[in-house]
Amino acid sequence: MRSQSLDAEGVKADFPILKKKVHGKRLVYLDNAATTQKPRSVVDAVSGYYTKHNANPHRGVHQLSIEATEVFDESRRKVMRFINAARFEEVVFTSGATDSLNLVRYGWGSKHIKGDDLIVLTIMEHHSNIVPWQLLAAEKGARIEFVGITKEGELDEGRFEELMAESPALVAFTHCSNVLGTINDAKKLCSSAKRAGATTVVDAAQSVPHMKTDVQDIDCDFLAFSGHKMLAPMGIGIVYGRREKLAEAQPYRSGGDMIKEVHTSGATWNDLPYKFEAGTQNVEGAVGLGAAIDYLEALGMDRVRQHEEDLLDYALQKLEGAPGITVYGPKRPSDGAGVISFNLGDIHPHDIASILDEEGVAVRSGHHCAQPLIEELGITAATRASFYVYNSREDVDELMNALAKARRIFCI
Ligand SMILES: Cc1ncc(COP(=O)(O)O)c(C=O)c1O
Repeated sequence: MRSQSLDAEGVKADFPILKKKVHGKRLVYLDNAATTQKPRSVVDAVSGYYTKHNANPHRGVHQLSIEATEVFDESRRKVMRFINAARFEEVVFTSGATDSLNLVRYGWGSKHIKGDDLIVLTIMEHHSNIVPWQLLAAEKGARIEFVGITKEGELDEGRFEELMAESPALVAFTHCSNVLGTINDAKKLCSSAKRAGATTVVDAAQSVPHMKTDVQDIDCDFLAFSGHKMLAPMGIGIVYGRREKLAEAQPYRSGGDMIKEVHTSGATWNDLPYKFEAGTQNVEGAVGLGAAIDYLEALGMDRVRQHEEDLLDYALQKLEGAPGITVYGPKRPSDGAGVISFNLGDIHPHDIASILDEEGVAVRSGHHCAQPLIEELGITAATRASFYVYNSREDVDELMNALAKARRIFCI
């Protein structure tokens, strides 16, 4: 067992890539909102799957196929427990959050959204929780309204409630902004939306990796996230769907495995969750996700959250004390996740990110796939530092040293 607070240096030792030097400098990886690094246990789980169990699950009666089915099912059970889903069949494997949201758009939305329906989104959405709904609205003649943000970077809940009075058919929102780090009160928003008669979709790509998630407590209809943002491989994701909602949705992709019977006259669908898992699945990704969940649970999700709050607090103090820095989003740690977007004077964020890279510090620059939010903030781009379990105060200090270098180069 690790001690009360998270031992970031001990955690770091579990991640082989973090020993890498970049431009001769220690790698300081602060691009975790884009993707996270993988601990040895996840890498080993994936290679162990291939060296011990690999076969196509659900398709054979031979020993390896049975083992592959068992490890695949076991990973689904781990996800189910991790997000506290009530049922095994409510957890559907996808290729990531984007795929999950598209599944909801095609599977549920195409069947249930009608012309003149209202779809409510927020201005802080990632493109993957905007574009599918724009396509759906265009297809059906539905209307989209965006809820804005306050000057503190919080959701404008007054406007949200006004829109609920218009009885929207669908409300889709991010649990945590990938730009501002704002954490939305998912339970409260889902409860209002449900009272208004809407189906709710929570984009949890930036929340499930960082905090305890309980889909039954949130009481959402759908919830989407990606494995690669929580220590697991790329190409695996989850859509949680309330059983009734998944049952009334139509298949998203079609082909093998998602059927019960196929005749020349037509086909019938497999039981949940397999109705939404057409074709050979990413079993090694699911196994890696299971191992990532084991790793995070051993750390304790409360400690993960506490660690990020501490880092956020430390980083905000440093950044706000530094000349020329503008930070966007909520200032207090309890209001935000470990994501900080900022600008330094009028230096372009790509220039900042390049200078930081020379110092071994990896950050993201640009619009962060959230252009409507960036426009709302009145900017064209920002630099983003985002933290995870292996980051430490020393990493923040390296970020500040590298920013000081940028300041010197641009004479700020
Ligand atoms: C809030 C949010 N939603 C959705 C996504 C899409 O995730 P993926 O690219 O893994 O499908 C991201 C990725 O950055 C995100 O930050």
